[in-house]
Amino acid sequence: MNDKELVANEALKYVKNGITIGLGTGSTANIFIEALAKKIKEESLDVKVVASSTVSQLKAQEVGLDYISLDQISKINLYVDGADELTKKLEVLKGRGYDLVREKLLAQASESFIVIGDKSKYVSKIGENYPIPVEITSFAWKITKNIIEKIAEDCVLRPNAAGDAFAITSCGNYVLDCKFKYSDLSKLNHEIASIPGVIEHGIFVKLAKVVLVANDGEIIKYN
Ligand code: A5P
Repeated sequence: MNDKELVANEALKYVKNGITIGLGTGSTANIFIEALAKKIKEESLDVKVVASSTVSQLKAQEVGLDYISLDQISKINLYVDGADELTKKLEVLKGRGYDLVREKLLAQASESFIVIGDKSKYVSKIGENYPIPVEITSFAWKITKNIIEKIAEDCVLRPNAAGDAFAITSCGNYVLDCKFKYSDLSKLNHEIASIPGVIEHGIFVKLAKVVLVANDGEIIKYN
């Protein structure tokens, strides 16, 4: 078993009969989705799932999970998702996969948000390896970008995968990838969120209950 498989399987320990689970997005979350489907089948569990993206929704349906749409729930029991960066203080950066508002909603709505990753996700400071994604309204994007640039060093409107148009989230928004110089992540979290036109951003502080990291075959748990 490689590190991603190891950590995805570790998260299965939080799955109980009768719960609703939020499914994450990305390669690690995909492994969790497959492992979850196997566990549910083997143990005949009654588990419902919602998804943090259209990609994970499709994946859930493909593997036969009992998928329900987000408008049918007001809270969930468990949300298991990967991360782009994480610190040992349970700070997390997410959003390479576009759907920031869905990811943040699930993190906030869950009784327990478990982040899974391998050691490549460790950083000493959020924003070290990746820009911080900010999901913004498309209709006034230049105004919002201009305001964000007052506190950002650099802000780029994210192109789509083919590079021939702007990336559009499943909520119809654009994404700015921004670099910030900051000393207080919680302060930056609130500053970005308070800008008009900002729907959501990729900084997750005080949301993860447990961070599980696979490090060369060993699981390290932060909580
Ligand atoms: C999705 O928007 C991100 O937050 C993902 O959780 C992240 O990109 C993790 O993907 P991998 O597991 O493929 O690294």
